[in-house]
Amino acid sequence: MASHDKLFIPGPVEVSPKTWEAFTRPMIGHRSEAFRELYRSIHPRLQELFGTGQPVFLSTSSAWGVMEAAIRNCVRRRVLNCMCGAFSDKWLDVSRRCGKEAEPLRVEWGQHINAQQLDGRLASGQFDAVTLIHNETSTGVVNPLEEICAVARKYPDVVLIVDSVSSFSAVPIAMDELGIDVLLTGSQKALALPPGFALFSVSEKAFSRAAQIPNRGYYFDFLEFKKNQESDMTPTTPSVAHINALRSKLNDIFTEGLEARHARHARTNALVHDWVGRNGLEFFAGKDFRSKTLTCVRNNRGIDVAKLVKELRTKHHLVIDGGYGKIKGDTFRLSNMGDETEETVAHLLSCLDECLSEFTRASVAPAQQR
Ligand SMILES: Cc1ncc(COP(=O)(O)O)c(C=O)c1O
Repeated sequence: MASHDKLFIPGPVEVSPKTWEAFTRPMIGHRSEAFRELYRSIHPRLQELFGTGQPVFLSTSSAWGVMEAAIRNCVRRRVLNCMCGAFSDKWLDVSRRCGKEAEPLRVEWGQHINAQQLDGRLASGQFDAVTLIHNETSTGVVNPLEEICAVARKYPDVVLIVDSVSSFSAVPIAMDELGIDVLLTGSQKALALPPGFALFSVSEKAFSRAAQIPNRGYYFDFLEFKKNQESDMTPTTPSVAHINALRSKLNDIFTEGLEARHARHARTNALVHDWVGRNGLEFFAGKDFRSKTLTCVRNNRGIDVAKLVKELRTKHHLVIDGGYGKIKGDTFRLSNMGDETEETVAHLLSCLDECLSEFTRASVAPAQQR
C-alpha cells in the first residue's frame, strides 16, 4: 500500500525522502557565516546549471514573484509578451497590472512561438523587453529557444526574459551563450523540491536596465539581490529549508551528471510518447515542439478524463493532471520530470493501461448483454 499519492502532474512533483531530510535540517540564521557558506557552496553549481557567469539568485517566492519582478525591473517603455498557453498568456495581464505598456504576440494554444514573427514585431522598435515561456506547461509545447534567442540578439535594446520553469535542469539551457537577460525557474518542477521557491539569474544588460527604472520596489529589486549576493546573502530572510534541500538536490544532479540527467528525461519522455501512440491517442503539441518534461495528450478517444484521474488515484495512488484551463478534459497531462526513471514511468503507464482497459470493458459489457 502506497504511503501517499505520488504526483505525476507537471509540478509539483514527487519529493524524495533524501530531499525531505535535507529540508528539515536544523535552522541557521540567514546572516550567519553558516548561511554564507551554504550559499557560497551551491553558487558555482547553480551557475553551471544556468549556463552563466552571472550571479544566481535565490527567491523565497514561487516563480510568479520573479516573473512579475522581471517586468518591474526590466520594462522601461513597452514589453512584448509571447503568448501560447495559460502561463504565457497570464504574463500579459501581469505586465499590465504592473502598470506597464504591454502587447501580445499571440498564437493558438498548441502552437509554438515563431521566431520570424517575433523578428517582425521587434523590428517595429516599439519594445524594450520580451517575455517568453520556454516550455508552456499548460499545452506541452516547447518553444524554439535557440531561434528565438538568435532573433532577440539582433536587438541590443531589448531585454529577453525567459521562464524555464518546467524545463530547467531537464534540458540544457546556456543562458550566456544564448544571450538571455533574465532566466528564471521554480523549485517544484524538474528540480523536484517542495514548491514556494524560485531561482533566477540576470545579465549585465538587465542590471543596467533596472538601474534606469524607478519604483522597482524592494522585495524583488534585482539590484538588492545583486548587492546581497556579493556577500553570499539574500535581501530578506529566505526559506533556508529550501536552500538546504537545493544543496542536496545539486549533489544528486552533479552525481548523476548533467548529460545523463538530460538523457534520462529524454528516455522517460519517449516512453510516454510511445504509450500515447500505442493507445491511439494524439499529442496536443506539434511534432517538433513537444516538451521533454511533460506530455499534453489530446483526448481524441473521448475518454472520461475526470474518471481516469480519479481511478488512477484511488486504485494506484498515482496522480495525473486532467488538463489545464480551457483544454481541461480535452487533454490530460503526464509528467516525467524530476527524479522519475524508466521504471517509475513504466509503472505509471501500466497502471494507466489497467484503468483504460477497465473503462473499455465497462463500456463493452452492457452492449453485449443486449
Ligand atoms: C511555465 C510556468 N511558468 C510559471 C508558472 C508559475 O509557477 P508558480 O505558480 O510556482 O509561481 C508555472 C506553474 O506551473 C509554469 O508551469
